[in-house]
Amino acid sequence: MRYFGCIFGRMNFQNELIKWYHQHKRALPWRESTDAYVIWLSEIILQQTRVEQGLPYFYRFLESFPTVGDFAAATENQVLKLWQGLGYYSRGRNMLFTAREVMEKHGGQFPVAYAELVLLKGIGAYTAAAISSFSNNEEKAVLDGNVFRVLARYFGIDKPINSTEGKKIFSQLAQDLIIGQPAAVYNQAIMEFGALQCKPKSPLCASCPLITGCYAFQHQKIDVLPAKLKKTKVRQRWFNYFVAKDEDQLLVKQRVAGDIWQQLYDFPLVETGAPPQINDPEFIASIQKMFGSQAKIQSIAQKKHLLTHQIIYVHFFALENYMINFKLYPALKSVSLAEFHQLPHPKVIEEFTARYLT
Ligand code: ADE
Repeated sequence: MRYFGCIFGRMNFQNELIKWYHQHKRALPWRESTDAYVIWLSEIILQQTRVEQGLPYFYRFLESFPTVGDFAAATENQVLKLWQGLGYYSRGRNMLFTAREVMEKHGGQFPVAYAELVLLKGIGAYTAAAISSFSNNEEKAVLDGNVFRVLARYFGIDKPINSTEGKKIFSQLAQDLIIGQPAAVYNQAIMEFGALQCKPKSPLCASCPLITGCYAFQHQKIDVLPAKLKKTKVRQRWFNYFVAKDEDQLLVKQRVAGDIWQQLYDFPLVETGAPPQINDPEFIASIQKMFGSQAKIQSIAQKKHLLTHQIIYVHFFALENYMINFKLYPALKSVSLAEFHQLPHPKVIEEFTARYLT
């Protein structure tokens, strides 16, 4: 392992990165702006998805809410609808909270100082560094997956990037490297270099301007760096949805706190601990309890839905002949198909609806 190159080696690292960036950078709309609000929008979206997929979300958000004041005046459903498909919906909700906080505590001026930004909801060290450097050239180093990878390989750091010790070493090194640099350009450069050149798989070493100083290349460690501790076990769940459509009316359910997809709208659901068996008495009993003894179900579709720490096996059933006591299920309601489309849904529900309920 080699943590610290000599001072000249390091300067070469930063200079080469910046030179490379000017030649290879993608033209991305948020790079044209130094408005902290615009940068905040883009960064929160980009934490959730890749650039190509994030672009349309960025444009839609900016069009709907050109200023932080417009954002703060939105309803939660509006924000969640715009966020729909990005997953991890608490990010969308936190954005609304933050926009309102900026109106109340900062007089509608989105802060640009790192120390103020980290105090806002949903803004951690990475986002605060990104916003403060891109909008105000504050010398705060960003540390995301791309930066971890570039630093681990170039400097030969084999401490796991998701260990406490590793995080400390990487963030100290990243911060040392940005001092004296043009912060906005340097931060963009190292991230872009990680995204386009020093890629996770098949990095473009043959054309890399840093190849001679790269520890991992020189020691055949490209495939093992960055090191990562093994992930926690993935939880498996079985969601059985009942699609009750009568003429133009459809039963929907708003999801409650304490689980994934908080406050989004899905369908009546029975979760089982294993794949559902249509003849299983326990499964039948739970359906009849909710929908009456005459209820009939029929399988329509199945989908495996992957989240970071969960695999959800989703099974959609058509529900007929049902009776429901709405007083017992306050989260359930009957809406028209047009109303249904206006509500925010988890991606798996949206995809099902687009295909089967038009
Ligand atoms: N990913 C996260 N932030 C980014 C940015 N500003 N440009 C490109 N990709 C990014």
